[in-house]
Amino acid sequence: MTTSITLSAPDYTDSDFQRLQSIARAQAGICLPATKKALVYSRVSRRVREMQLGSFKEYLDFTTGSAGTVEMEKLICALTTNVTGFYREKHHFDHLKSVVMPDFAAALRKGKRGRIWSAACSTGQEPWSIAMSVAGSFPEIGNFDFRILATDINSDVVARAASATYAPDELEGIPEKDRSLFLKESEGGLRFSEGLRRLPSFRVLNLNAAWPFHGTFSVIFCRNVVIYFDDETREALWKRLAERIEPGGFLYVGHSERVANAKQCGLVNIAPTIYQKED
Ligand SMILES: C[S@@+](CC[C@H](N)C(=O)[O-])C[C@H]1O[C@@H](n2cnc3c(N)ncnc32)[C@H](O)[C@@H]1O
Repeated sequence: MTTSITLSAPDYTDSDFQRLQSIARAQAGICLPATKKALVYSRVSRRVREMQLGSFKEYLDFTTGSAGTVEMEKLICALTTNVTGFYREKHHFDHLKSVVMPDFAAALRKGKRGRIWSAACSTGQEPWSIAMSVAGSFPEIGNFDFRILATDINSDVVARAASATYAPDELEGIPEKDRSLFLKESEGGLRFSEGLRRLPSFRVLNLNAAWPFHGTFSVIFCRNVVIYFDDETREALWKRLAERIEPGGFLYVGHSERVANAKQCGLVNIAPTIYQKED
């Protein structure tokens, strides 16, 4: 006779959901509307079971307690989506290559510092697409004062992005020319070349907390992340990002996003999902 152990579904009450709403808002600026109650259950119950706890209450008591720091990060990760892709929303990369790069390359040649920020980089497809775009238009870029900053709140996705390695079936969206120029066979899949790997720096960063760096950027990609935030958090973030964009620089936002307070931020909407900082 075989015995199987079935873990019963952890208890999940309205009050647990309200606690999760407050935690998500306070820790990451994430807004969880009531319509997400079931989705939140399916994502967080996995964590509750993994911790071998019988209810959301026990899980939340642990996570908000003094020993819960690591689990809190896992909880926030469980509440966010990491969907991304190489050259996702391609018109931003076309704009980067055709409009931004000619002046940007000329300024770098004159000794100017150049920075681009991928502000919610997920598993790295966005910053690596930026790296391929800039190096494709300006192959000597590695010899100049240029860096890509790639950040995300989730340390697992940041580590994955920094590995620069992807399985062959994850490379969809990368044109053949870029594959042959920038990807090399490696253990575990294909890896971005050494030259390209010098361009990005990867960091864990909560966009709604303090940013431990100074300086401005010529271009900021902040795409498909503010959809999780409420209006107040979103507008505050646009303002802070705009303050970090150089005059004449650009902000790219996700396809379903817009900067409602663009004028207050000194941003002009020059094309769908593309904003330029006033000179
Ligand atoms: C849907 S992905 C978007 C990835 C990429 N920007 C793109 O458009 O393909 C959203 C990312 O935002 C990150 N995220 C959510 N809240 C965040 C916060 N408060 N600070 C920084 N990153 C956050 C998630 O971890 C996730 O990787």
